[in-house]
Amino acid sequence: MFGKKKQISTIDKDQLELIENAQKRIKQKKRLYIHFVIFLIGSVLLILSETVLGIGKNLKIAGINWFVFAIIGWLFLLIYHFVSVFITNKFMGKAWEKQQLDKLVNQQQNRIEKLKQNFLKEETKMAQTQAYNESKADVVSSEKKKTSELTIIVAAGENNAIGKDNKLIWHLSDDLKHFKALTNGHHIIMGRKTFESFPKPLPNRTHIVITRQKDYQVPDGIITVNSLEDALDAARFDTQPFIIGGGEIYKQAMSIADKIEITRVHSVFENADTFFPDIDKTKWKEVNRTTHEADEKHAYAFSFITYLKM
Ligand SMILES: NC(=O)c1ccc[n+]([C@@H]2O[C@H](COP(=O)([O-])OP(=O)(O)OC[C@H]3O[C@@H](n4cnc5c(N)ncnc54)[C@H](OP(=O)(O)O)[C@@H]3O)[C@@H](O)[C@H]2O)c1
Repeated sequence: MFGKKKQISTIDKDQLELIENAQKRIKQKKRLYIHFVIFLIGSVLLILSETVLGIGKNLKIAGINWFVFAIIGWLFLLIYHFVSVFITNKFMGKAWEKQQLDKLVNQQQNRIEKLKQNFLKEETKMAQTQAYNESKADVVSSEKKKTSELTIIVAAGENNAIGKDNKLIWHLSDDLKHFKALTNGHHIIMGRKTFESFPKPLPNRTHIVITRQKDYQVPDGIITVNSLEDALDAARFDTQPFIIGGGEIYKQAMSIADKIEITRVHSVFENADTFFPDIDKTKWKEVNRTTHEADEKHAYAFSFITYLKM
């Protein structure tokens, strides 16, 4: 761990290659130079061998001494050597050319790879932006479309009891006031049985009664419909239509409602015959709670709780 640090070469691969090539070049030139020197000495020796030593004294071609031909032939060889070092090998031979070409191709490939990566990055960014814009547009348009908040309003015991014999099981005046305050001026959607449980229609509210009966008779001003969908359609211009019961209608409206205003009566009513559905806490979030203690006017303690659909 604490041993000698390995020397890291500061010369990169390309530089190393250049040095090697330069060394090769020097060797080639050196060899040519040696060849030249040997040629000079050789030429002198050839001349001396004939003139001094008398070798091939009588050997003449077209009246010219043999060593002249020998020297000219050697000179051609020297010229060939010179040409191959300075002209043919200028680019250091075919292998070197191929290497350079490979290098160039690699560089181009790297560039293409980089461009591809940049392009992919840009494309991902664009796709993300597009998806973001689309989802934003969806949210905006759904916000625009969703102009009303369908609200369930109910009073239920700890065991979800809401009624018995088509009547409420308790009388809690502050809860009735709460109901009036919230529903005042709005459409109130109810099942036929709940409607019949009222002594008379509630003032300042538009009643929509759901029944399967085609000729169900109601006082003037009361709207009758044959389905929950038709009831919602009749209340479409209300910013907050209320589903006010009873058990059957609550059950059908849970999946489409946006909000629940529940008065939780803190007692268990075993004798009830109608119940509110369980509130699935994974789908509904409690956003508000106010507790009211039992007193001389209220036999039971209760809490006003607001849930919003998640
Ligand atoms: N604690 C509370 O906050 C609260 C609030 C409201 C009511 N309640 C209580 O709840 C009880 C009444 O509830 P409930 O469940 O018996 O009756 P309900 O829900 O008030 O009314 C049921 C009736 O609605 C009609 N209906 C239901 N679904 C329909 C559909 N999909 N299409 C057409 N019509 C449909 C039918 O009328 P037809 O039979 O005419 O076809 C059905 O008989 C009472 O005890 C009442 O006091 C309590």
